[in-house]
Amino acid sequence: MQNKKILLAVILVLLAAADVLVFMAMGAASPAPWLLLVGLLLVPLLLRSKATKCDSFLVWDEDLSVGIEAMDRDHKKLLNLINNLRAAVLCNTGEAFERRNLEDLVEYTKEHLQREEELLRQHEFPNYEGHKAQHDQMISYVNTYVRRYDEQGRKILPEVADYLTLWLTDHIKVTDKQYSAYLNERGVT
Ligand SMILES: [Fe+2]
Ligand SMILES: [Fe+2]
Repeated sequence: MQNKKILLAVILVLLAAADVLVFMAMGAASPAPWLLLVGLLLVPLLLRSKATKCDSFLVWDEDLSVGIEAMDRDHKKLLNLINNLRAAVLCNTGEAFERRNLEDLVEYTKEHLQREEELLRQHEFPNYEGHKAQHDQMISYVNTYVRRYDEQGRKILPEVADYLTLWLTDHIKVTDKQYSAYLNERGVT
């Protein structure tokens, strides 16, 4: 990444130097140096917009691990499903693909939350009710989003993708991690 930045900086400096030379050789009345200057300004803008799009995708890292294989597997799949929805939003993939992605994500989110609650109940996790209350609130938001999607169409999808991205990463890092040590001590890994 660092090497790419250095290479880009070198290319930009060389282009800027070439532009100065073209200015000196052809004068400001010629369109050539101006065209070169516009190209020079567009390069970082184009690269920046590509980077911003890619930055919005979720990448799994060990910070998200709750130390329980089955739950990590579920969370990784949820991240993938959110990324699919993000891709559908960014790339205008059409109604059928968007709807399919949204439905898959909603369905799997509900399945995961139930699986997690079952695990916590089974091992009598002390804050089971508090944890479940957070899941219930999230499901209620998701149901509202699905209803709004039926009524308003794709314009609400970026909001859904942003909400689920934030909720999921925050919930895993803060709330889900609260059961890690408790379950690990009971042999769940
Ligand atoms: Fe949870
Ligand atoms: Fe979870």
